[in-house]
Amino acid sequence: MTSREPSDARVQFGRHAPAEHVIVHLSDTHLLAGGAALGGRYDVEANLAATLAAVERTGVRPDALVFTGDLTDLGEPDAYRRLRDAVEPVAERLGAPVVWVAGNHDERPAMRAGLMDAAAPGDRDDAPLTGVWDLRGLRLVALDSTVPGWHHGQIDADQLAWLAEVLAEPAPHGTILALHHPPLPSHIPFFDILELREQDAFADVIRGTDVRGILAGHLHYSTSGTFAGVPVSVASATCYTMNLQRPAAAVNGMDAGQAFQLVHVYDDVITHAVVPVVEAPTGDYFSAEWTARMAALTPQERLEAFSRKR
Ligand SMILES: [Fe+2]
Ligand SMILES: [Fe+2]
Repeated sequence: MTSREPSDARVQFGRHAPAEHVIVHLSDTHLLAGGAALGGRYDVEANLAATLAAVERTGVRPDALVFTGDLTDLGEPDAYRRLRDAVEPVAERLGAPVVWVAGNHDERPAMRAGLMDAAAPGDRDDAPLTGVWDLRGLRLVALDSTVPGWHHGQIDADQLAWLAEVLAEPAPHGTILALHHPPLPSHIPFFDILELREQDAFADVIRGTDVRGILAGHLHYSTSGTFAGVPVSVASATCYTMNLQRPAAAVNGMDAGQAFQLVHVYDDVITHAVVPVVEAPTGDYFSAEWTARMAALTPQERLEAFSRKR
């Protein structure tokens, strides 16, 4: 099995071997038809382009690009076309599949027509958009937590039964779930009106399975917690983010702080590194050459060279 880290990161200086799987987790692109600015204020296409450029700068060759919903703001067919046009060339260069997850701002029929190449036979065009990916032994399951006509979330009994069936057989490297509405509380009052409902039934399906992590979006800020004993990680948005510097009741959007996450899947742990999308002067002390010099040393020599205080 080949690690998906860039070659200069495939050294082992600590207790963990490099992660065998890497996922890029992005969320809430909120594109509009005709490239319109969201709310007349946010250039969501420029912000997505900046985010995708930042993803490429990491040098990672991810196993998948996962977009956890609110892909468009109004579910317009042209917005899905524009999203595809922006993301697919990047995914092709990275050699990674794209996993599209539905959010409350999406519309199932338009999303199915615009982003899914093949609908499941017999599926109604407003059926939930779910899927299962085998990423070299790591199973990724996309759930659809949307409720047509509403902004809050729910996973209906049929979908939970389907999920239980999928999870009945464990995967070699375990399972990661991706859905839009996080099964976590928010400290911002308005988000709890729009939360995922009937979480107890969802927890019952997850408990005792090989689910190792849950990826979500919806909140437009990065946060994390646990649900049914499983770590949950929420990626911020590519379009605009919530300014958490305000008191909870006064939190609103701002055109700054956009971020995505690098999800590193190790044998016994998954980490979620938040990557702010910023242009800033950055040092050059550490480099591939520096890492190669360290790699040529014994562990004790490395400690002497880099850990000992002078
Ligand atoms: Fe959103
Ligand atoms: Fe949302």
